[in-house]
Amino acid sequence: MGSKRAREPLPSRGIDAPARVPTPMATSSLGRVTRIFSALAQSQKPGTLLGRVAAELGRLLEQPLALVALSAPAHYVLAAATGVTISRRLQLRHTPLDPGRIPTLAAAATRNGPVRIETAELPYRWREALGPLTVLVPIWSRDRRGGFFLLPSQGTEREELLLIAEALGYQTGIALENAELLRRVTQKEQALRSMVRSQMEAQEEERQRVAGDIHDGLTQQLVGIWYRVHACERLIEAEPAAAREELAVIKARIDESLVEARNALYNLRPSTLDDLGLLPALHSLCARFQEESGVHARLVAETLQELPDHYEIALYRIVQEALNNARKHAQASNLSVLVRKRGERLTVEIRDDGRGFNPRSQRRYRNAAHFGVAGMKERAKLLGGTLAVRSSPGHGTSIRVIIPLPLEVRALA
Ligand SMILES: Nc1ncnc2c1ncn2[C@@H]1O[C@H](COP(=O)(O)OP(=O)(O)OP(=O)(O)O)[C@@H](O)[C@H]1O
Ligand SMILES: [Mg+2]
Repeated sequence: MGSKRAREPLPSRGIDAPARVPTPMATSSLGRVTRIFSALAQSQKPGTLLGRVAAELGRLLEQPLALVALSAPAHYVLAAATGVTISRRLQLRHTPLDPGRIPTLAAAATRNGPVRIETAELPYRWREALGPLTVLVPIWSRDRRGGFFLLPSQGTEREELLLIAEALGYQTGIALENAELLRRVTQKEQALRSMVRSQMEAQEEERQRVAGDIHDGLTQQLVGIWYRVHACERLIEAEPAAAREELAVIKARIDESLVEARNALYNLRPSTLDDLGLLPALHSLCARFQEESGVHARLVAETLQELPDHYEIALYRIVQEALNNARKHAQASNLSVLVRKRGERLTVEIRDDGRGFNPRSQRRYRNAAHFGVAGMKERAKLLGGTLAVRSSPGHGTSIRVIIPLPLEVRALA
């Protein structure tokens, strides 16, 4: 008996008591709005997100179905639907809405809020799904109209519910934009990861190549020298003249080995880059190129502040590969390396007047044997820049790299 009394509701006290008890209508509308906002707040795939919002919007406006058409961009195409069978969904997806042929739809696209239109002008499939009258709720993204929610209408939707629907249209537009931004960021992240992976692979290949060079070059030469020294040891008493001849050969071999060792070291890490900076290093690269290839080479450069190490090495490697290519493929007479600073961007261009090639067909037939251009592009990309190859048979080649200068260098400018 005592416990029964305890469960009895408290008598209402004070004039504000009834206001604190929400009506069933307000509870369900608010509940739906809250659910829609939480659906929008969760980052989901656009299709799932639109489906959930459409379902909640249908419940809010008490309609059994809701369709979502997104701009694609000349037509509106079904992007999600709720309350329709799969086969109808497929039919609708294959029947785009063309605002050019549906004046009421084109007019609705210029309005801010939800509008009711007769479906007489819509394609048969849409009419069949929606009935004679439909409410269009615009989905906005900034200034661009993204599309519409389309729901059947009795023509009696309450004004406040339509206002809520309008706000949801805006929020849906923002959520779609966020989903698109997320997609792009994820795509960039993946691209960056694969670039880092291929850089690491390239590094590994480079190490193997260097190891191979040392094995086949320097090591073999040292072995050769060792045998000659050994022979010399035997000759020195019995045939001093022959021993002296052998010593002269040994000295020549040691000189050759030193040159090879220096070249290998220079290719691994050019000392001029560390000691003097990018421009002097490019200058000496051009001088070596001219000396070795006989192609007249010049560097035209504006003064440049010191760049972070990884910028200098990447730009150096790009120019080095462009010069290697010119030497191997171009048969040029002249080559120039131009370094220019324009505002916050640095441009490095390598031009030759050689036989040129068709970069398109090169791209098509690209295979594992040609790493050079792809590697140059990746290096430019890693610095947030671009690399363009301009060439055509008989008209020389130009490789142009444009990179944004790092913030600390911009601040000094
Ligand atoms: N300056 C140039 N003049 C003429 N053809 C060029 C020039 N630069 C590149 N090419 C063409 O583009 C192709 C691709 O160059 P890439 O540097 O990618 O590969 P590769 O030089 O053949 O090989 P790798 O650089 O991997 O040793 C070359 O094989 C050549 O046909
Ligand atoms: Mg190459």
